[in-house]
Amino acid sequence: MILWRHIGLFSSSLAFLKSDFTDWDCRRVDSKLVLWNTLREVAVAEADAAESALFTVPNLVSTASDFETSPEAIETLFSECPLGTIFLLEIALGSCMLNRGQYSFEPCEATGKRLMEFMFQRNVSIAVLLTTVWPIKQAFDMEFVYEFGTDTASQWHTFQNDPFHKCAGMSAGSKEWELLQDLIWTAVRSEHMVFAKVRDFIFHEDIQDLVTDQLEQPQSFVPECFLGWVATLLIKASVTWHMESFVYFSYEQVLKGYLADLTFWEFFGSTWLLSVLLGQVCVMHRTINEMDFWGSELLKDPHINSIGSLRLKASPIFSATAAAVLGEGARAYRVNGESRLLTYAVYVWGEAFLKWLPAYIKRFHSLAVYNLMVFGDTATYQVCSAIQRAVCLQLDTKNSLHRYTIPLALMNLGVDAFILDFDIYPFQDPTPVLISELESYSVMPEFLISGSFGDACICNALAFYRSTPSLRDFIRGLLDWLYEHPFPHAVSQRALSAFLGESPIKKRQSTGPFFVKAERLAPWLPDRARPGIAWAVLDPGVQFSSSANLETSGWAGDAEDIVIYHFFYGAWLDAEVAMAIDVKDREMFDIFYNTSCGKEPQVCEDRRNQRIRKHLVANRRGDVRNHTERACFSLPYSSVDLEPVPKTGLGKLSRA
Ligand SMILES: *[C@@H]1O[C@H](CO)[C@@H](O)[C@H](O)[C@H]1NC(C)=O
Ligand SMILES: *[C@@H]1O[C@H](CO)[C@@H](O)[C@H](O)[C@H]1NC(C)=O
Ligand SMILES: *[C@@H]1O[C@H](CO)[C@@H](O)[C@H](O)[C@H]1NC(C)=O
Repeated sequence: MILWRHIGLFSSSLAFLKSDFTDWDCRRVDSKLVLWNTLREVAVAEADAAESALFTVPNLVSTASDFETSPEAIETLFSECPLGTIFLLEIALGSCMLNRGQYSFEPCEATGKRLMEFMFQRNVSIAVLLTTVWPIKQAFDMEFVYEFGTDTASQWHTFQNDPFHKCAGMSAGSKEWELLQDLIWTAVRSEHMVFAKVRDFIFHEDIQDLVTDQLEQPQSFVPECFLGWVATLLIKASVTWHMESFVYFSYEQVLKGYLADLTFWEFFGSTWLLSVLLGQVCVMHRTINEMDFWGSELLKDPHINSIGSLRLKASPIFSATAAAVLGEGARAYRVNGESRLLTYAVYVWGEAFLKWLPAYIKRFHSLAVYNLMVFGDTATYQVCSAIQRAVCLQLDTKNSLHRYTIPLALMNLGVDAFILDFDIYPFQDPTPVLISELESYSVMPEFLISGSFGDACICNALAFYRSTPSLRDFIRGLLDWLYEHPFPHAVSQRALSAFLGESPIKKRQSTGPFFVKAERLAPWLPDRARPGIAWAVLDPGVQFSSSANLETSGWAGDAEDIVIYHFFYGAWLDAEVAMAIDVKDREMFDIFYNTSCGKEPQVCEDRRNQRIRKHLVANRRGDVRNHTERACFSLPYSSVDLEPVPKTGLGKLSRA
């Protein structure tokens, strides 16, 4: 694994000041030139149908050619909608190359240059570029240009056979570069993921040494084979994209500089197939920029004069949340002499989970916890609404950012929020425990987070947010970072951990706080909002503990002391990681929430309690959780077989 030596890239904003999220989809752009929403919808539909290359679709080509020749118009479009403009330029370039490229690509050169500039020299991150709903990756699909080189009379032939770019016969290492190029070609021709074919090359010791050199001495590192090196880094980025954010961002940082230096034909036309490799960096991930809540509702404190005026100017979900706060969704509680409002909230969607939702809600009700807000899509809403006294909110976007949008919306409405994952089981009413926790610190915590049993890491299955200006500011910064860095694999927890750092506050009477190690997120982090927030970890030993599914999870002590138990349903992980996770028991929901086993209700209840007891015994790790300073568990990536199945319309390698 590569260690990044410090690079001084800290921004120094004192507080979070943005009032809306970047409109990458261009849903709210008011343009006189292009109907961005319509263009995006047509583009997405064409890409999904994938009947022909996008730059042969007449509608798209004619829109692109309307602007292509006017630099001013293009610049205006870019300022309105960067990704839409990049997409249009790809269409313009593709259709130009198809028509004229082989013998004379000069007419396409200006467009290609513009495209390269917008993609790689402006402020669009690689991850945004590759995960957006705009089918930018699909429009890269110009494999025919690689075939131009086979015609010895064409200009491409000259370029593609330039020994310098091919890195042929120039040094002792040439053979290796030629081999890599062959492997890439073979993989692309046979429509395989490139990574599987080049694994041995990519993980070779010599290559790892070079990468280390580069990351440690970026100034003095000069690659022997420039385009081959860019190809290598792209492949490495694609491996780590699925596994390890810190290493991925290290590569991305280096790649950004290299990509900004490439000419369009080096990128689209060289025998290193760089545009194909870039398209494979993240095959299975599409960013959802829609959050139902409006950016302004999350990023700013609302000014509520009356709920009536709020309703007029709010998104449906924000109004519904506000109404729920005024109704049964929030409950008053007293902490340190202050009366405040408290809500428990969960978001859930998907058939596998919905069948357990009634029992989940009823379990809270049986503990006299009615201030539980259930957020979810239409199906969730229907199941939830059938339960008496349930508080149900329809939140249609299946966006993992809801982990932070929901507490932020609630905090903005002046409510403290305890956000729960769905794969948990409450053994007792958490509120009294929460109050005594909050009161046991000399400074009242703004944020409480569950922790991991066997290492010194946080776990965001359970998190309590006290609505304070500094916590709202902190979560806004975190949410915006996640929005701008659409990276898969549980990065929402990793980012939280990295943003929080390693200094939880101390209880009044305690030998020391729970020891915390921060996860590695990226080689650079935005400066956190100051002053930092007061946060602490909920007892990971027994009160807020977990099943022993992972090497580092489990619980210890007396089962009577468990407040909320996290039983780790593996599919949550699967959804975020591009590979199979070995989770032993997928029947957890059945153990905890199956209240209808077809026998007498009491027999069923006895059976359920018995199974829960048995489960707890099997997952108990001892009498007491040992102190640990072990760093956070992260998935090993060099040994993983990464051959995901591309989804329809994504990651297609060549025209059928
Ligand atoms: C892009 O970044 C530059 C330099 O950091 C900055 O000056 C500029 O305002 C940014 N542009 C946009 C559109 O964010
Ligand atoms: C609960 O258990 C019974 C008996 O094992 C089973 O038939 C039923 O499908 C389970 N309920 C759910 C919701 O899976
Ligand atoms: C705590 O550490 C002791 C000594 O290393 C070990 O025997 C015991 O199993 C540990 N307990 C737990 C709960 O891990």
